[in-house]
Amino acid sequence: MTQLLTLSRAAQLIGVSRHTLQRQVRDGELVSQDGMIASEDLLRRYPDLRLEDSGVFEPTTPLAGFTTAKCGRERILPTKEILAQRLFGQSNELADVRRHLARYHDLIESLQDRMAASASDSPAIRDLQRSLEDGLAAVLGSQEPVDRVAVMDEVLRVVAAHVAVRPSGSEFFVEGSETILEAALHAGLAPSYGCGNGNCGLCKARVIEGEVRQVHAYDYALSAAEQAQKYTLLCSHTAVSDLVIEMIEAVTAADIPQQQIVARVKSVSPLDEHTYLLNLQSPRTNRLRFLAGQRVTLGIYSNRGDCRGEHSIASCPCDERNLMFHISRAQADAGDAFAVALFAGAIHSGDSVSVWGPYGEFVLDQKSPRAVAFVCCDTGFAPVHGLIEHAQAMDTAPELALFWAATRPGGQYQAKQCRAWAAALDNFHYCPVAGADQASAGRAAVERLQAETADPKDWDFYLAGGETFVDAVRAGLLAVGVAAERIVAAVT
Ligand code: FES
Repeated sequence: MTQLLTLSRAAQLIGVSRHTLQRQVRDGELVSQDGMIASEDLLRRYPDLRLEDSGVFEPTTPLAGFTTAKCGRERILPTKEILAQRLFGQSNELADVRRHLARYHDLIESLQDRMAASASDSPAIRDLQRSLEDGLAAVLGSQEPVDRVAVMDEVLRVVAAHVAVRPSGSEFFVEGSETILEAALHAGLAPSYGCGNGNCGLCKARVIEGEVRQVHAYDYALSAAEQAQKYTLLCSHTAVSDLVIEMIEAVTAADIPQQQIVARVKSVSPLDEHTYLLNLQSPRTNRLRFLAGQRVTLGIYSNRGDCRGEHSIASCPCDERNLMFHISRAQADAGDAFAVALFAGAIHSGDSVSVWGPYGEFVLDQKSPRAVAFVCCDTGFAPVHGLIEHAQAMDTAPELALFWAATRPGGQYQAKQCRAWAAALDNFHYCPVAGADQASAGRAAVERLQAETADPKDWDFYLAGGETFVDAVRAGLLAVGVAAERIVAAVT
């Protein structure tokens, strides 16, 4: 019997990305009905599909250059308790099917007996007997091959639980024994949450179907009414079976509240002679909720006093508790007190940094089906880095292109990572661009993207850099017919 699968589920089974299947559907290589793919069609397109080659057991070595995106994460098996619970669930389903089969078998035998005992000279009964016997012979003698996709889907259900989210229609997989909240963040979703630790109740969601299991202790008490309606805390539970949940998600920057946290400096390391990578770690019990591409104010008290500066977050919320920043000498030269303190060597591992925010609307339009081009200059790459990780985690854009302009030789300080993305992802293109200043870098970037994209009017653009750069790129895009609403910009 044909089984219908969502694109995400089919992609997991085949071991390809969701955008690859989307492209095949677009090109007519695969048939999709209402966003679902039939197991038969999948086998027709992938006739050599075998369990060991499928995405059910993904490579266990993380890809170079991937720190967070799910395509670069290794698959972790659930704990033995969860595995046992999932196998127990499947055994129950199997036992139920066997019980039903035994009842159908008894029913057919009793029907045959009754037909044989009653009016056997009736042509209608004889006809019924014959067709019943022929039907049974056809079923029992059938050489129909086992549906390999269905078998692999059963294995996937043991290895990772699938979660469908209402009302957004988003979906994701819970790997290992990660919490449902962690899995949603890894998948690029923006669920409502606060402490991440079972205290605030902001992550509560309603389980419509399926079974969850507590993996962390929590203090927040759900009311009797909430318990009756099957509310659960996403930060403290994992999925035992496939789930359907009702969950609040942030869609725009306005859905994210302003926060203040104190994070710890995990490391300060040079990206090149002009740029530092600052890695902050938020407390386990008080994480910063933000959307990729947003910025915050960073502040530190040192012998220089209260040093503050506004900086773009270079990581994605899918990167657990890590907050990354690319801080440049140019920012220090422009008077940013936090950058001055950093370049003066006044910020060290273990220091406490206050973080206020997040701000800004430089965030991905998650509903857009179009290809996405990121056009940035120098440390304008910082928020773009977060957006690219987010886009990879979402795995919905048909194509991603990065045009990174630098105003000094070797200014693409994370070129190695960009090349690693391009090597590992068939829908990612990296195009470094050079310019003597921000205006010429902007013009060069527009020329390059015109050469690389068949029709820029079909793309969404995210621009980040100095004002002169952003203005030059915007003017160039408008001149070639790109609609103004397809351009989102951040002046960094
Ligand atoms: S995030 Fe606070 S209770 Fe879950």
